[in-house]
Amino acid sequence: MYDEINFEKIDLSLEPPAKEPERQHYFIAKLRRYVEAERKRLDRSVTCAVVTFGCQMNARDSEKLSGILETAGYELTEDENADFVIYNTCTVRDNANQRVYGRLGHLGGMKKKFPHKRIALCGCMMQEPSVIEKLKKSYRFVDLIFGTHNIYKFAELLVTMFESKDPVVDIWDSTDQIVEELPTERKYPFKSGINIMFGCNNFCSYCIVPYVRGRERSREPEDILREIESLAADGVVEVMLLGQNVNSYGRNLKNPISFARLLQEVEKIEGIKRIRFMTSHPKDLSDELIAVMKHSEKICRHLHLPLQSGSTRILQAMNRRYTREDYLDLVQKLRREIPDLAITTDIIVGFPGETPEDVDLTIDMVKQVQYDNAFTFLYSKRTGTPAAAMENQVPDSVMKEGFDRLLNVVQDTARKQIRRLKGQTLDALVEEVNEQDPALLTGRLSNNTIVHFPGDKSLVGKIVPVYLKECHGFYYAGEIQEANNG
Ligand code: 5AD
Ligand code: SF4
Repeated sequence: MYDEINFEKIDLSLEPPAKEPERQHYFIAKLRRYVEAERKRLDRSVTCAVVTFGCQMNARDSEKLSGILETAGYELTEDENADFVIYNTCTVRDNANQRVYGRLGHLGGMKKKFPHKRIALCGCMMQEPSVIEKLKKSYRFVDLIFGTHNIYKFAELLVTMFESKDPVVDIWDSTDQIVEELPTERKYPFKSGINIMFGCNNFCSYCIVPYVRGRERSREPEDILREIESLAADGVVEVMLLGQNVNSYGRNLKNPISFARLLQEVEKIEGIKRIRFMTSHPKDLSDELIAVMKHSEKICRHLHLPLQSGSTRILQAMNRRYTREDYLDLVQKLRREIPDLAITTDIIVGFPGETPEDVDLTIDMVKQVQYDNAFTFLYSKRTGTPAAAMENQVPDSVMKEGFDRLLNVVQDTARKQIRRLKGQTLDALVEEVNEQDPALLTGRLSNNTIVHFPGDKSLVGKIVPVYLKECHGFYYAGEIQEANNG
């Protein structure tokens, strides 16, 4: 696709095209001139760092940002001393925001020493008006600020930044645009996330995502399949289909299609060996999806199914639209149909009005479901959400007490679940050479469990059978089963 574009041939004396993605291709060509000029001036390569906060969606967006920067001539680095640094931010909980402010202060210090350094901010946090006000007042050294809806204009925004003396701030309230065919730079050559939809319509009462990511928009299945085919041709063996609520994928398309049907189409793509997806909302998980998962050779044995609370009263206040019993019924069905499925979840402690008895119900739920892992969060008040205006906010000390009680049970359960795999031989996708011990490889099982085992780095990106020898809490030490190796 974009590999075939010859940016040198784009005539920059013409006006930029109005149509996308041609318009962005034009700006990438223009950006290359600016980066080249900078390279000559500095007499060395021009570096950039893309720093990601938050979820898998942000990680995927960062790959898109990196792709454009690399195509423009930047050298990617993880070092924030780089000539250009961009923070792709998250605002789902307040501690994510505080971390950005903290690190930004540090970047500002670096810029005082190296004034040619350029700093940009994007992502969910930028969609909050109070954040923009604060940045304009107290962080005036930031050169470029944009949000979630105009990320596809990154090349154009960078050109504006190079041409402007003042900081560039461009935040949109919403968009119905989905721009395809821009360069991306994958973190792993053998696996990739793919956005199948953007935004969320659920308005869980604690959650800021619908406000900062906008209404739900599904990509056309043909575009998704074409992207996965080209990834497969490029060596990708594992795909992760991404959306805030993948179970409602396709409902609002002109020709509606279910998520289960989309999965069946992805399954047909040659070269793709594993399919993952995230996130599933329990209220929309269909029998059709369970059946497709059950009969699939490629869909991984892992389901992330956020519970949020085990108390029906709190679930109602959260606007989750299922009861404790609905969730348990769903889990029972899943366990019956797909016995080797690992189930993970998200849980919030300290939602307004939550009592220790509600936490007990959540703990009981963890015991009944036997999660393989649960991400537990302290409730964080997000301005503009209905829950932030609720009167019965829970004091910090009560929240923390409930959180600690829950965490103990979550960890016990996860350890128990993982121990059950001991002695089995299961396929692992080798993801990397172990950071602590270069004689070891790190792989991931279909059910998302991590296993470390001796092996050569040439196996990275390959799927190998691994004997699960010793369980170390949340991961395994294993050995490749030589007989089937290859
Ligand atoms: N406070 C705490 N946790 C939250 N999450 C979303 N919003 C909040 C909030 N205001 C959690 C939910 C969600 C996960 C991505 O983040 O558990 O599933
Ligand atoms: Fe937030 Fe609920 Fe949408 Fe998930 S489903 S992004 S928690 S509003």
